[in-house]
Amino acid sequence: MGLASIIYEVGVASKYINHAMRTGDLGLAGTSNLYGEEQLALDVLADEIIKDRLDHTGRVRKIISEEQSEIIIFERSGRLRQYSVCYDPLDGSSLVDVNLAVGTIVSIYAGDDPLQPGRNQVGAMYVVYGPRTTLVYSVGKGVFEFTLNSLGEFTLSREGIILKEKGNLYSPGGLRQEYLPQHEKFIATLEEKGYKLRYSGGFVPDINQILLKGQGIFTYPATTGNLHGKLRLLFELNPMAYLIEQAGGAASTGLMPILDVVPEHLDHRCPIYIGCREEVALAEKFLAIPV
Ligand code: AHG
Ligand code: MN
Ligand code: MN
Repeated sequence: MGLASIIYEVGVASKYINHAMRTGDLGLAGTSNLYGEEQLALDVLADEIIKDRLDHTGRVRKIISEEQSEIIIFERSGRLRQYSVCYDPLDGSSLVDVNLAVGTIVSIYAGDDPLQPGRNQVGAMYVVYGPRTTLVYSVGKGVFEFTLNSLGEFTLSREGIILKEKGNLYSPGGLRQEYLPQHEKFIATLEEKGYKLRYSGGFVPDINQILLKGQGIFTYPATTGNLHGKLRLLFELNPMAYLIEQAGGAASTGLMPILDVVPEHLDHRCPIYIGCREEVALAEKFLAIPV
């Protein structure tokens, strides 16, 4: 029941975030987060809304948020508080003011330790704020999509979402001139095979496209600019890797499964190759070639 109430309350939070995004102030909050990124008023507002709703469940003990510099412990303790949550309240927030889709990403663990390998997640979800507002989640029994209707209710729109073994879409993050040789060869191989480039700059809609089309690969690699890549393990990579594996796909750092990485700190970053199993395996082959 605890897990359901967390997913439900994130759904409630997403309605307020959705409203704020379509009507509210898109300006800067005048603060920055742990990563030195200027926080948009929307980032801070979305974070507050989700934090309050998670506390309201009475089932969450600790949270890690992209917008908070340390782990937050909910004081209103209680023997029922047996979950920990890592979340990105608004991923891709800088895309809001050019009217592109953005999202909320949530990772859920049993117990009071949110710094666990992603393999230990008991659930994960995301919300896409796009032409439609949709909520995608899994608690280990397949992947489901709910769509927000005109009455403000989330209704089931897809169930048992599954990825094909192989696809023909690729989402190549990072600056091309900063690609390392093995990654460059991998991307060139996809292009020679005629893969179609689909990249919005928003991790959530880019992953959502792969899930709903049932195929594709998203990558944000190690680059000369950042050997660890850009995306954060705890609240971006782990939840998406959980969902994609639940849909029969794969998620790798290029060297090992994302879900097996042991997080070392809150802003642990990894390179990522995520989507159809065949393309992820191909990427791992290229990354294994000694330079
Ligand atoms: P956030 O807005 O939470 O910082 O995340 C943005 C991320 C992710 O959404 C996307 O995949 C990536 O930034 C895009 O990075 P580039 O602009 O370097 O392509
Ligand atoms: Mn993010
Ligand atoms: Mn964010």
